Amino acid sequence: MCGIFGYIGRSEATPILIDGLRRLEYRGYDSAGVATLANGVMELRKCAGQIASLTQMVQKDPPHGTSGIGHTRWATHGRVTDENAHPHLDQSGKLALIHNGVIENFQQLRDQLLSHGHTFRSETDTEVLAHLIGYIFDGMGGPRNKQNLLDAFRLALKQVIGTYGLALFHVDVPDVVLGARRGSPLILGVGKGQNFIVSDVSAIVAHTRDVVYLDDYDVVSIERNQFDIVSLAGADISFQVSKVDFTTEDVDKGAYPHYMLKEIFEQPNAMRDAMRGRLSTEECTAKLGGLNMSSRELRDVDRIVLTACGTALHAARLGECLIESLAQIPTEVEFASEFRYRNMPMNKDTLVFAISQSGETIDTLAALRESKRKGHRTLGICNSVGSTIPRESDGGVYMHAGPEIGVAATKSFTSQVVVLTLLALLLGRIRHLSSAQGIEAISALESLPDLARQVLDESARIEELAGKYTDAAGFLFFGRQYNYPIALEGALKLKEISYKFAEGHPSAELKHGVIALVGPDVPSIMIAPDDAVYEKNINTLEQIKARKGRVIAIATEGRKQIAGLADDIICIPKCPDFISPILAVIPLQLFAYHLAVKLGCDVDKPRNLAKSVTVE
Ligand code: F6R
Repeated sequence: MCGIFGYIGRSEATPILIDGLRRLEYRGYDSAGVATLANGVMELRKCAGQIASLTQMVQKDPPHGTSGIGHTRWATHGRVTDENAHPHLDQSGKLALIHNGVIENFQQLRDQLLSHGHTFRSETDTEVLAHLIGYIFDGMGGPRNKQNLLDAFRLALKQVIGTYGLALFHVDVPDVVLGARRGSPLILGVGKGQNFIVSDVSAIVAHTRDVVYLDDYDVVSIERNQFDIVSLAGADISFQVSKVDFTTEDVDKGAYPHYMLKEIFEQPNAMRDAMRGRLSTEECTAKLGGLNMSSRELRDVDRIVLTACGTALHAARLGECLIESLAQIPTEVEFASEFRYRNMPMNKDTLVFAISQSGETIDTLAALRESKRKGHRTLGICNSVGSTIPRESDGGVYMHAGPEIGVAATKSFTSQVVVLTLLALLLGRIRHLSSAQGIEAISALESLPDLARQVLDESARIEELAGKYTDAAGFLFFGRQYNYPIALEGALKLKEISYKFAEGHPSAELKHGVIALVGPDVPSIMIAPDDAVYEKNINTLEQIKARKGRVIAIATEGRKQIAGLADDIICIPKCPDFISPILAVIPLQLFAYHLAVKLGCDVDKPRNLAKSVTVE
């Protein structure tokens, strides 16, 4: 949802900005732009299209200077055009601004500025804000210095309703870049003789691993050798410099053609990292210290609400099955976007979890805030360390999956499910689960990374299989119980990156309507491992075959009956029921990936999507 990169230092800014934007491109790729400042002259380059188009533009005519700002856009206000690309300038043309978020009262501000004779070049809310800041700065009349620019910035932001992560500079105040956040992520990177303002740490780890995660209403100014952070009211605030725990290698593709494939293959390690130090064979349970809750408090929980969006919501649906079956606690899943506006009845012993890879999804964050406002203990399950959800929650669990850059979530899903399994085990063990059952669950979890590796070994065969289905008009995914959420997730992956129509359903729903879609052009993917509902899934499969539907089955190795019925089969190793969905999702990720590649789709940058949705 737009990536922001601000730089001031001693090196030429443009290559640093372009490299940073490439690393932020997963946040949006509708258009991109940079503005730099050298010897009192601003140079601006921007265009619709991906960073590659901007790169060509700056190679032909490089903008110079040792400070600058860069932006990659996911369009909200205004179409995808060169004019609407950021940075935007104020009326004087001396102030350049980049923005991630939405200014809700932009029309009203725009009308006011129009009445003062301002003219606008774009359709964006951001340009209005640039004009407003410039208008206040020009009207101040005092010296053209950092303090007055900062004051003008703060005064303008006080008039803004909406969300923003911002960075700007002004030609008359050449040695400073300013930034501010409200509702959109912003991070200060602290370097030696250089400082940065970015939307995501992955963009600056090549330069520094010392960062300050800014809070809402923080306003930051960076210079070559210093930085200051004040509140929107202008008061000094306390902050902490943290160390980022990953390196450039973690955010590079390495030998893989796409981030998505790299991240699919990273899953065995990500699963291990999600479990590391959290399984106790002595107490036959999981340990999740970050929940900040005693066993007594956990035992008092009588209801759980899991809220999330997209793939994280599918992990939550699996969490619901896991917690109910292992811990017998009534659990409900709600779209974060609904939860925030719904008046869900909850009592004092309801525990709420907000699940999010990025920790920045605005709907999930708003659900967390609504739950906290009502006085409920609200915990996070997140991947991005230092992101807003973990910082605002009462406790939680980090997934430790490492940076996920591919827009389609893969390793974050399986890590979320692993964490939810740990949670279910922990809650079960302080209720009715015996130590023997605890040990059984632990050994199943410990075997998971190796089993996942065996599924990944099928990648070449899945690639071949995908080649047989490129002509399909759409796909139906079926699964039951633990594997119904996997049907949803498999369908989501496929539609996101291949643009093929796809829907996930509980298997038994076939006969209640979906069957009308079955036919040779719409193959079905039946997730039917060897579990308690295997025979029921076979019934569904027979019904599809009776209507001339093609079927790809995801089944447990060695099952002859299903192999004889399905057109194609992808096997997963034998495992306990509650582990099967984590293994079953992997072939679906690979199938979606290979199909999309064969169709010539840009899997890491699917059309219209952005990795982190920080606007409503
Ligand atoms: C799907 C996908 C999205 C995200 C959703 C929530 O592949 O990536 O559906 O899962 O936008 O994002 P987070 O988990 O960052 O809150």
